[in-house]
Amino acid sequence: MELYWVTEWGYIQHLAAAQIERAMNQNPTTSRLGRLLELGWDHACDAMFVADCRTGRLVDVNPAAERLTGYSRQELMGMDRTLLHPEDERGAVQDAFRKSIADGRTVDGFHVQRKDGGRVPVSISSSEGFDADGLLLAVGVIRDASELERREHLVAVKLERDQAQKELAEALSAVVAAITTGFEMRDPYTAGHQRRVAEIACAIGRKMGWDEDGLQALHVASLVHDVGKISIPAEILAKPTRLTPTEWALIREHPETGHAILKDVPFRWPIAEAVLQHHERLDGSGYPRGLRGDEILPGARILAVADMVEAMACSRPYRPGLGLKVALKEIESQAGTGLDADVVRTCASLFREKGSSLAGWDQR
Ligand SMILES: [Fe+2]
Repeated sequence: MELYWVTEWGYIQHLAAAQIERAMNQNPTTSRLGRLLELGWDHACDAMFVADCRTGRLVDVNPAAERLTGYSRQELMGMDRTLLHPEDERGAVQDAFRKSIADGRTVDGFHVQRKDGGRVPVSISSSEGFDADGLLLAVGVIRDASELERREHLVAVKLERDQAQKELAEALSAVVAAITTGFEMRDPYTAGHQRRVAEIACAIGRKMGWDEDGLQALHVASLVHDVGKISIPAEILAKPTRLTPTEWALIREHPETGHAILKDVPFRWPIAEAVLQHHERLDGSGYPRGLRGDEILPGARILAVADMVEAMACSRPYRPGLGLKVALKEIESQAGTGLDADVVRTCASLFREKGSSLAGWDQR
C-alpha cells in the first residue's frame, strides 16, 4: 500500500525513497507520481526528516534539512532526532511531536540547534505512517521561522512604540488642558479667546488641506498661544483705558514668555516656535524677532490671522467687539503684506460662505 503524508502547508510527502523508486518502476501512473514526490522532497523549502519510531533515529532527510541544520545527509542519517534541538528543549519537543501527530497542528516555539551552534526558531509539523515493509516511521516537517519571528518582533516593537506615543500624546493633552484650565481661572477672557482661535485656525487648516496630524498641532498651538500672558498682571490685561508704553512693552513679551514655558514640553510639533511667532508678520513688521516671509511657520501664519479676527470681532474686558465685518476687512487690508494672502482668503471665505463650518460664528 502506498502511503503519503499531507502536512498543514499542503506538502505531500512520500516516506521512503526506496518506496518511490519501486513505484517509479511499476507503472506509468505511479512512476509520474513518484517523480513529482521526489521533486517535492528535493526542492521543498522546508526541512523534512524521516525517523524510525522504534529507535527515534533518522532514516532519511531532504536537502533543506541539510541547509537548516548545517549537517550533511551522511551526518544526519542515524542521528537521534531529538539531538536536532537544543538540550533544554529536547524533553518538550518529544511531547510537541506527539501532539502534532495527534491533532495535525503545527507547533511553534522550538529551535533547531545547528552544527555551528546557532539556534534557529522553527515551526514543527509531524505525522506517522507505516512504510511498505511495515516499519512505523515519523515524518517531521520543520520550517525556519526566523523571518516570521523577526517580523513578529518588529510588529511588537511598533505596537509598543505606538502605545508609548499614544500615552505621551494623552499626557500632553492633559498638560494642555491643565494649562488652559489654569488660565481660565485667572483670565477667562484670554482662555475663551484661545478656544475660539483654535476653532478658527483648525477650520482654516482643514480648508487648506492640512492633514489630521497638522490640524492637531494647530489645535494645541492655538489653545496655548497666549500662555505667556500669565506673567502679565491681570489689571493690565483688563485695563479699560489706553496702555502706557511700559505696559505695551510688557504685553509684547508674551510670545517669548510662552515660548519659554513650552519649549521643553516634548510635543511632536513645533508648538513653542509657533507660539513665539504668532505676532510675526510677513513684511517683517511683527514681533518679537521681526521675521519675514518663509521664516514664519505655516502654522504661525494661520494662527496670526485667526488671532486677529477673533481679537477684533469679539468683546474684551476693556471694549466691546468690533464685529466680524470690521475684522475681515482688516485682515483683508493686510493680505499679502503682513498676513499670508492664502490664509486670509480661506479665512474670509469660511466666514462668508453659507453652510461653511464658520458660517454664523459671530451669532453664537
Ligand atoms: Fe497673542
